[in-house]
Amino acid sequence: MGKVFNVTLDGPGGSGKTSIAKAVAERLNIAYLDTGAMYRGVAYYMLTHGIDVADEKAVLEVLDKVDLKVTKTESGEQKILLGKKDITSYIRTPEMSMGASTVSKIPAVRLKLVDIQRRIARDTSCVIDGRDIGSYVLPDAEFKFYLTADVGVRAKRRYLELKDKENVTLEKVKEDLIARDEQDSKRDFAPLVVPKGAFVIDTTNLGFDEVLDLVLSKISI
Ligand code: DC
Repeated sequence: MGKVFNVTLDGPGGSGKTSIAKAVAERLNIAYLDTGAMYRGVAYYMLTHGIDVADEKAVLEVLDKVDLKVTKTESGEQKILLGKKDITSYIRTPEMSMGASTVSKIPAVRLKLVDIQRRIARDTSCVIDGRDIGSYVLPDAEFKFYLTADVGVRAKRRYLELKDKENVTLEKVKEDLIARDEQDSKRDFAPLVVPKGAFVIDTTNLGFDEVLDLVLSKISI
């Protein structure tokens, strides 16, 4: 087994980081960690227990009870467990997206999840995607990327993912993305920024394979 190394992929929603991160992990034959799903898991706990994700005091009162685990299905897909319950299929709704963005402003929530993320990355070579991975969670990661795209293009991508499952309009998806961008990049603790040393890719006019090839061309192991 070779030396452990990490690839970080940060960026706003709809920038393509999750699908690219999965493909990079597959090509390098290493693990993939979607940290957004972890914040979504915390939001799911709060929202299903009637707790306002913006109420820091109420969130802190129950945070120790949030028993979140990241595992894999037999086919290698990431699975999020709350206690014994697999919540993976419930956390992709617009409500959970916004809930995750709001609850992620609370430093204690971030520290709880960052601790799990760092432990995984220390022992396992992986591609990790999120908002603060290259800047805060793993600033010394070997390969760092920041993906971005025009907000109209990002909204369209997200809308196409959601439209058959949720009652959404392109306008509302765009509005929510703008609100999340603002909230994620303006929070005090570990906001969304371009990490120092990250290779920036604007995916507005690039196809999936072009982005994937570009990322892979910068990784030498
Ligand atoms: O990547 P995503 O859309 O699943 O993330 C959902 C929210 O979780 C995002 O709007 C902000 C938060 N998040 C974060 O604060 N830090 C991360 N590393 C990943 C996600």
